[in-house]
Amino acid sequence: MSGLIAPHGGALVDRRGERPEGVDGLEAVALTERELADLDMLASGALSPLTGFMGHADYERVVEEMRLADGMPWALPVCLAVAEAPKGDRITLTDQSGAVLAVMDVAEVFGYDKEREAAQCFRTTETAHPGVARLYEQHGQYVAGEVTVFERQEPPFPELAKDPAETRAAFSERGWSRVVGFQTRNPIHRAHEYLTKCALETVDGLLLHPLVGATKADDVPVDVRVACYRILMDGYYPDDRVLLTAFPAAMRYAGPREAIWHAICRKNYGCSHFIVGRDHAGVGDYYGSYDAQLIFDDFSSSELEIEPVFFEHSFWCNACEAMGTAKSCPHGADQRVFLSGTKVREMLTAGELPPAEFTRSEVAEALVAAYRGA
Ligand code: ADX
Repeated sequence: MSGLIAPHGGALVDRRGERPEGVDGLEAVALTERELADLDMLASGALSPLTGFMGHADYERVVEEMRLADGMPWALPVCLAVAEAPKGDRITLTDQSGAVLAVMDVAEVFGYDKEREAAQCFRTTETAHPGVARLYEQHGQYVAGEVTVFERQEPPFPELAKDPAETRAAFSERGWSRVVGFQTRNPIHRAHEYLTKCALETVDGLLLHPLVGATKADDVPVDVRVACYRILMDGYYPDDRVLLTAFPAAMRYAGPREAIWHAICRKNYGCSHFIVGRDHAGVGDYYGSYDAQLIFDDFSSSELEIEPVFFEHSFWCNACEAMGTAKSCPHGADQRVFLSGTKVREMLTAGELPPAEFTRSEVAEALVAAYRGA
């Protein structure tokens, strides 16, 4: 077999199946955008070893200890919220238009404490945090059970849609066994390019794996981001060492816990390494710059298996005439070019190009054009 890392729990889960007889008469639950993304990842094995939306024992231990009931690392709940307990022991799961996608064999329904989940998973109960706001808006009970998905949703970028089995096959075909995964929800700026290329120097291949599920309203829209990734793929990454595919998850903005969750998902896609930089999956100032790296200390490397690759805050240094971090650049802040996401958005909205030291000019032009057209 290939020399690729094993999926989390040892085997890739596959919850795709045939449409069973008689589903039309079943009680239907319509999923939110985040739940739909989770359902699709349950189908493909991206959330292995999960076979469905979590039951109470898994949920409790995940919230309290970042482990499934059997002790395996798992950092965030994957749950389906409902207003009322279903009457039958089998329900259908639909998208927001009512199209039936899957059946769930209901194992249990349980109440949960939103504030506790928020405090544990997001480290805050403030509703200004987008993940907490989403949690507080959802229904008050969780319904749990195995799912069988017979209708996959149309992916937003079909040409970039690759399930874990497919990325694994692509890695094997290219002869890669050491593969570094890169999560992003932003356009590829110079810092992102620097981290990915530094990491790529030490492994066989890079999975550029932008998240294409729901993000908060003021993040750069996904089609604009995808246009930026393509610019980099066309001009600045070697085709035979970099694979660009989409990560279908929704953002939770859970910072440290999401870094663990992101890493485990990428392990399922076949990555042996995973980049965690500054304020990974963070929002506002809810998390310390390196909390998403420190949290890896809560697990032994043998239980996570995927190896985190940490980077300090990286920037362009005018004196070095190169990208670097405080680890590799001796110059002062006055030489360093770094713009916050808010500042970049302000520039784009005003039609100003961010400097080439921050973003390659082709990417900057694509961003300004998109903001002008918006
Ligand atoms: S995230 O929500 O997906 O983490 P983003 O797309 O900005 O947001 O970041 C993708 C990855 O690059 C994360 O691991 C993040 O920590 C890292 N990163 C982004 N910018 C920098 C930077 N300037 N220095 C170091 N790491 C960074």
